[in-house]
Amino acid sequence: MQRRHLLRILGGGVITAATLGATGCSKALPEGALLAWQGPQEEADLRRWVLSHALLAPHSHNLQSWLVDLSVPDQITLHLDRTRLLPETDPLSRQMLMSQGTFIELLDQAARQRGHRADITLFPDGVFAADAVDDRPTARIRLVPDASQRPDPLFAQVFLRHTNREMYEATAPSPSAMAAIVAAGGGPSMRAGVSTAADGDSFARQRDIAKAAWRIELTTPRTVLESYRWLRIGPDEITRHRDGLSLNDPLVRLMDATGVFDRTVAPGPDDMATTGQLDDFNRKIDGTPAFYWLVTQGNDRPTQIAAGRAWVRAQLAATAQGLAMQPISQALQEYPEMRDLYAEIHALLGAPAPAHTVQMWARLGKGPTVQPAPRRGLAPLLIKA
Ligand SMILES: Cc1cc2nc3c(=O)[nH]c(=O)nc-3n(C[C@H](O)[C@H](O)[C@H](O)COP(=O)(O)O)c2cc1C
Repeated sequence: MQRRHLLRILGGGVITAATLGATGCSKALPEGALLAWQGPQEEADLRRWVLSHALLAPHSHNLQSWLVDLSVPDQITLHLDRTRLLPETDPLSRQMLMSQGTFIELLDQAARQRGHRADITLFPDGVFAADAVDDRPTARIRLVPDASQRPDPLFAQVFLRHTNREMYEATAPSPSAMAAIVAAGGGPSMRAGVSTAADGDSFARQRDIAKAAWRIELTTPRTVLESYRWLRIGPDEITRHRDGLSLNDPLVRLMDATGVFDRTVAPGPDDMATTGQLDDFNRKIDGTPAFYWLVTQGNDRPTQIAAGRAWVRAQLAATAQGLAMQPISQALQEYPEMRDLYAEIHALLGAPAPAHTVQMWARLGKGPTVQPAPRRGLAPLLIKA
């Protein structure tokens, strides 16, 4: 395949990438970064078996901010890895707590699968403050044999669930599929729904908010640089880190290798690095047939964990329906530049802040098959084995 690209980016630099395809470069992620998706091999310790499933959970920016203490038999103590946070875009660590919840949900499902009950105590040593996180555990979990536990049907989707950032088909999901997704992740003080073109102006407005929010995130230097810090470009970096946001496109690799793409410099609003991404995102939002949203009343730390559990259940249910999802978190983020859009999406979804919080907002539709995202595996998560 011959590819001929003329790119004018970052300060007017020009790069010609011809015949890249012929060099054997591929967008596919290196296998070494995806080993965790093969599941646990022979595993005598049930805790390690369930944890090998839990670590496939979705996590904001794929940070995998999970630390696990196994020093007490039959017990798993979960902590938040404070070296893996997003202080600019997630200043209250709300998404970090949701991402503890996604992990706990898959752990719970895996335990059921093996005839065990996961007795989960959230914040056994006290709850984090609303605007800070610390080293105290987020959960203490005991695995107890319990013949009354039934496997969760959603467990079958754990290895198939992937965040899908591609273009979706224009057709809206069927009413029954939407109902299954909404029903999968509920709970007290929680309300979920799906918006489609049938919702008229509200749906059109959601598209506008999603696009405007992405523009703010991409043109605010400190938020875009925060994402750059978690970019992993090319097979070596992707395999070495097995976290973050993987880019393995040959052109991006070339731009990175030649210094045309400098991850320490935020691109200007008119640079192609910005406008290209915006065009791509806007096209995908305009083609998205449905948005899923999840609202909670209250927003304390246990509620954020519960929201994470509900979110991964919704995404597993979508997977079971042959549907794809991609969170679009930008308008939900609590930094000053986003304040107006934050208020607007809350009002639009009938969830006025601060009594309510839109915990998740996501594209929903039928998408092409995508690859899994890298995982670090269990060993790096263990603080006490
Ligand atoms: C709380 C939360 C917020 C997220 N926000 C976004 C987002 O705004 N955009 C996006 O593309 N993915 C978002 N994601 C998806 C993660 O990037 C994704 O889970 C991670 O990269 C791992 O990939 P996987 O879900 O395919 O396993 C979010 C995930 C969570 C749990």
